[in-house]
Order: sequence, then structure tokens, then C-alpha cells
Amino acid sequence: MRISVVGTGYVGLVSGVCLADRGHQVTCVDKDADKVEKISNGVAPIYEKGLDDLLAKALGKTLRATTDLRSAVHDSELSLIAVGTPFDGTEIDTGYVEQAATEIGQALKDKDGYHVVVVKSTVVPGTTDELVLTALEKASGKKAGADFGVGMNPEFLREGEAVGDFMNPDRIVLGGLDERTHQTLKEAYEPFTGVDVVLTNNKTAEMIKYASNSLLATLISFSNEIGNLCSSIGGMDALEVMRGVHLDKRFTPILPSGERITPGFISYLEAGCGFGGSCFPKDVKALIAHGHKHASSMRILESVIETNLNQPKEVLTRVEKHFPSVENVDIAVLGLAFKPETDDMRESPAIPIVNSLREKGARIKAYDPVATPEARKIFGDDRIEYCDDLAETIADAQVIVLLTRWDEFKGLPELLEQGAPSAVLVDGRRMINKDSVARYEGIGIQL
Ligand code: UGA
Repeated sequence: MRISVVGTGYVGLVSGVCLADRGHQVTCVDKDADKVEKISNGVAPIYEKGLDDLLAKALGKTLRATTDLRSAVHDSELSLIAVGTPFDGTEIDTGYVEQAATEIGQALKDKDGYHVVVVKSTVVPGTTDELVLTALEKASGKKAGADFGVGMNPEFLREGEAVGDFMNPDRIVLGGLDERTHQTLKEAYEPFTGVDVVLTNNKTAEMIKYASNSLLATLISFSNEIGNLCSSIGGMDALEVMRGVHLDKRFTPILPSGERITPGFISYLEAGCGFGGSCFPKDVKALIAHGHKHASSMRILESVIETNLNQPKEVLTRVEKHFPSVENVDIAVLGLAFKPETDDMRESPAIPIVNSLREKGARIKAYDPVATPEARKIFGDDRIEYCDDLAETIADAQVIVLLTRWDEFKGLPELLEQGAPSAVLVDGRRMINKDSVARYEGIGIQL
């Protein structure tokens, strides 16, 4: 099938490259000529594991990039809209989605044959059937359902694992206005076999995406609330409490062999310093705002956000237990991005934690295996020294604050013993065995 993908950000480029790898003829479209040039030269403008290799493989064969949206639409039967939806802190801005729909509509005006337009960007329920469909009809002078189809196909890609998640999906959600739209989408996803497909309408597809991310964020805030209570009551450890919860066979089913299955969501049921990233905070807040518009209060999700906003304080309180004044205290911060294996600093819990510590006069050394350049853009160089390796970061530290679960940090107990035996470790991710470090503080343990 010939597919045009409008927008070459993380969703658009990964989708385009993966669909091209599976044999479709894909044209990636972007207004940004620099990005198009990079892609045309085989360089992905974003980093995702495995993306460069697939791009190089498909380029010139089943993949090309252009700034010319009109020709890309004319040369395809299916267009995917994968443009950004900037967030103002409360609502998403669907301006780029509407603009892309209008431009595709203008191209459809003089295109013969049936064409399907599908939204891949994460948009609140109703956007595809209302805003996108209307913009397409207005710009094309044609009728949705008769002259062209309109669909919604959310993505479920984790940053850092996006290529793998696209190639081996856990589900494919295909929203569509009508049978014909569904048919086109089914053909596009035909190369992905053995996976559950949800064939539904556009609003349901939009809602599945928001419900999925909101649930995962809720699991995290729930675990954090329980963790904070464990720490307030004392005499227990949230890690042990949650392990006991995980052992419910409805969460971790027992196979006939006696072995347990540990589903991926179990890792979202652990106390820590809070969630971040470009998806959870934004999606949950956007759904809350959308709920209010529809006279539906979203009390649980409001609390999910509130708990998450407070979680960095759990780390700071533990530092201040040992150093009520952190002025001139040497603090090593390990992990800066919102999770390991990415340099994405968006909404990272490290931001409020580092800012608060240095406002109070701490001397900070920071280390992240990949996020330092991004972190430097946010923090600058004031009272923060960026280190190139773990041992250097913790040398002379009085407090070590661990904020992301990089595998490399597993070796911390040995390094501490050699390099900073009297340092206090504040484990924001409960990654290190509390008995392996002389002075340990963790979320979910009494202060
Ligand atoms: C998330 C979802 O997991 C994807 O399914 C979804 O497609 C994506 O958002 C999106 O909407 O685009 P991502 O933001 O890359 O993906 O991040 P996750 O790996 O889910 O991590 C989100 C937060 O959860 C992080 O702050 C992380 O620390 C926390 N987390 C992650 C856990 O607490 N436990 C984990 O096992 C993984």
C-alpha cells in the first residue's frame, strides 16, 4: 500500500520507517526541510534504538521523505496525521492537527479515487470526527464516508522501545468512520500478524489511548500514596508491602509448572519519586480538562497528578533529614531523564529536585549516561557539575540521590564502599537493596 505520513516526529517517523520496513511504500512529509534532508540522508532526527538501521534499510526502496505534502497525498491511498499537539499545561492544542487535515483536504480536492485519512497523534475524544473530518470536508469540497474515509489509530510506543513496540505490537486499535476506512487500515496492518485488533469508531480509539496512559499513571500514583503512608506509619517497607500485593495470582498468574508470570504493569506498581515524560503528565491533564468540558469530574485523575507533583518532596525530605540545611553540602544526583535509556528531560522529577537543592545552596554533581546535554539546556551550569562517570560523581558526595533506574547504578553498593562509605543514599526508585548500603533512605520507608 502507498502511505503518506504527515509529521516526522517520534510517532510519525517510527511509524513511517516501520511500515516501510514491512513492505509498504511510505512517504514521510514534514514542513521542516532540515528534518527531511536528514531523513533523506539516512539520519533519523530523533534517537530511538534500532531506528537508524531500519531507516537506512528502507531508504530509497520503500521510504522517501519530502516537504511536498500535496504530491505525497496524491501518490498514496492512506495518509497518517502524526503532528505534534503542544500542551499549555491544561489542554492540548490541536492547531497542527487541523492544519495538516486542511492541507490534506486541499490535496484531495483534485485527487481521483478513494483516500483514507487517519489521525495517529494523541487527541482527545471527538477530535477526529469533529475537527479533522470538518477540516477535510471544508478544504476538499468532498464528503467523508462517500469520497474519503476518516480514521483514528493511536500509538502505544514507549520511548526508547518505540521500534520494538511498533514491530511487535500488543494491540492494534483501528478507529474508523465506516467499513471502508477499516478495510484500508486492516490492509496497512496486515504485515503485523498474531496480534489482537480492536475495530471500533474514532472516539473509542481516541479514548483507549487516554484510558491506557491514565491507568498506568494511576497505578504509579496509587503505589506512591501507599508508599507515603507506609513511611508515615513506620515499621514497614512499601517495597515489601507491594511485593505482597504483586503476589495476588490475578496480578502475577501461576502457571501449572508453579512458575509465576510477571506482567509488565507490575513495575508501575512500585513506589518512587514520580512519573514524568511527554505522555503521562500531559495525557492525564488533558483528559481531566476534557472531562470538565463534558461535565464529568475526574477526581481520581486529579489526585493522580497531585500525588505526582508532591512526590519529589519525598526525596528532598530524606535529604534534609540528614542535612537540615543543604547549603554547601555535596550532593550527587544519579539519573536526570524521566526514565532510563532516554535523554528526554520532559517533566522529569529530577527537575524540581535539582532546582530545589541548588536553590538551597547545595553543591551538585550530576550524572546521566545519556541525558547530560539535554539536562544542561534546562539547568545551565550554575551550582551543578556534570560528570562523565559514576565513580567520579559519587566521589566526595555526602548525599547520593538516585532518580532513574539505569542498570549501571546496580553496582552502587560496591562503589560506595570504596569511594564514599559515609555518604547517605536516597533511593528515589527503590533500586538498591537497602541492606547493601550503610546509610540508606528510600521512598516508602519511615523517615
Ligand atoms: C508511555 C506508555 O507506557 C506507552 O504505552 C505510551 O504509548 C506512551 O506513554 C505514549 O503515550 O506515547 P513512555 O512515556 O515512553 O510511554 O514511558 P514509560 O516507559 O511508560 O514510563 C512513564 C513513567 O512511568 C516514567 O516516569 C517511569 O519512571 C514510570 N515507569 C515506567 C514505572 O514506574 N515503571 C516502569 O516499569 C516503567
